[in-house]
Amino acid sequence: MDIAFRLDNKNTRSLRRQLYKEMREAILSGRLSAGSRIPSTRALAQSFGISRTTVTECYEDLISEGYLYARIGSGTFVCDQLPEHLLRVAPSRSTVVAKQPHPAVRLSAYGKRVSAVSVVNDVGGEARTNFKHWRPAFDHLPLRVWRRLIARHARAAEPKNFDYSDDARGYGPLREAISKYIARSRAVRCDSSQIFICAGAQRAMDLITRVLVDPEDEIAFEDPGYLGARNIFAAQGAKLLPVHVDESGLNVSQLKSKSSAKTRFVYVSPSHQFPSGVLLALSRRLELLAWAHDQNAFVIEDDYDSEYRYGGRPVPALQGLDQTERVIYVGTFSKVLFPSLRLGFMVLPQSMVEPIARAKWLSDRQSPLIEQCALTDFINEGHLERHIRRMRTLYGQRRQALVNAFAQHLDGRATIRGDDAGMHLMVRFTTPLDDEELIRRAEQRGVQLTSARPFYLKTPYNNEFIFGYSNLTERQIRLGVQRLSEVLM
Ligand SMILES: Cc1ncc(COP(=O)(O)O)c(C=O)c1O
Repeated sequence: MDIAFRLDNKNTRSLRRQLYKEMREAILSGRLSAGSRIPSTRALAQSFGISRTTVTECYEDLISEGYLYARIGSGTFVCDQLPEHLLRVAPSRSTVVAKQPHPAVRLSAYGKRVSAVSVVNDVGGEARTNFKHWRPAFDHLPLRVWRRLIARHARAAEPKNFDYSDDARGYGPLREAISKYIARSRAVRCDSSQIFICAGAQRAMDLITRVLVDPEDEIAFEDPGYLGARNIFAAQGAKLLPVHVDESGLNVSQLKSKSSAKTRFVYVSPSHQFPSGVLLALSRRLELLAWAHDQNAFVIEDDYDSEYRYGGRPVPALQGLDQTERVIYVGTFSKVLFPSLRLGFMVLPQSMVEPIARAKWLSDRQSPLIEQCALTDFINEGHLERHIRRMRTLYGQRRQALVNAFAQHLDGRATIRGDDAGMHLMVRFTTPLDDEELIRRAEQRGVQLTSARPFYLKTPYNNEFIFGYSNLTERQIRLGVQRLSEVLM
């Protein structure tokens, strides 16, 4: 056979890769035809003046991928069926047939409930000031360290690390690191056997709801409250019991009067109520725990952004006060790191460990291992707490810039609710405009707003808005509020 290949000693690619590429292309283009015999390794090495080992290794690669086969005693041949043909799927009939309208899908009762409540993430547009989100400052993420840790674990991974884990709760050293971190920063009392790593707070709440709640059971929750959680409860077919939030947090007397033996749990965000920003008072916390005990119900504590408190000391988690194992604590790395990481965790009472372990295994087996390993080092080497300290200063300054801008430009027409904490604040405006009109006019001036209305199940206030500030510079914040003042009449 007389066939030419281009090999270049100066090319940065190894001779073995160059030869592989040339031969593969020759096979795919038909220059080396199916069934034909190719030169022996010795002959090819001689004719190109390269080492026979290089040629042998290249042939081995092509044989292992299905381009060549060796017949003992006769030589090496081009395969009749090439891997490209075997891997490419023939066009299905539906792509050939003229386009039909989609037939209506028959959804399950669950599927119908999901369609009724769930909306996809509204990221907002390219407005100059987008107050719609309470996201971390992405341009301040400690990416150099994070990339180094990911690379460290990707390099060190052994074959066994690519298998399923034998523990649905997640990577043991990460659970250990989290249990110590939340003990010192949040006064949560647990050992690592109670911790489950999962894809964010969202997955944690979904699993808890599936395992505890039947359709028609009751779930009590804060009103206004977090839609991400409320939609999970509604999708499960639970009867929703909205409980009013006042300046001391969830009104526990109202909870007591509304709840019944069918109330499986109450969802709360006690450290920084979402969206009002108020703190659940200590007396209410004790009352709530007593209610859960008497009612044989659980309290789901969503501790999503409690690391960020700007005035005074951090407030310990409700879980640490619990003497009777009625609190399920839910934490997330979406706020202190970034949401696409999809790592969060829950701390379960011992009685819930086994049922949730089974549900977790059924649902998704485990979270990605390399990210869990990197996060373990990130916590144990002190990077997490260092990052949080920096962001606490930055977000505190941004919050202050927003508060100052309201004072400067809105002159008594903006009333801020809630504590000096978190990544968003809630504000009531004095204006004759309704929410939609205000949003529309603000958008025309390059400012995007989120009305608090959808977060209420009962009697929303007019002109109440949620302002995310953590991912905006002080300049953007000032400019945004100034523009807003021009449309607020
Ligand atoms: C109140 C509340 N809880 C929890 C979360 C975090 O959810 P996840 O961990 O699923 O990203 C958010 C995110 O915005 C939130 O606002």
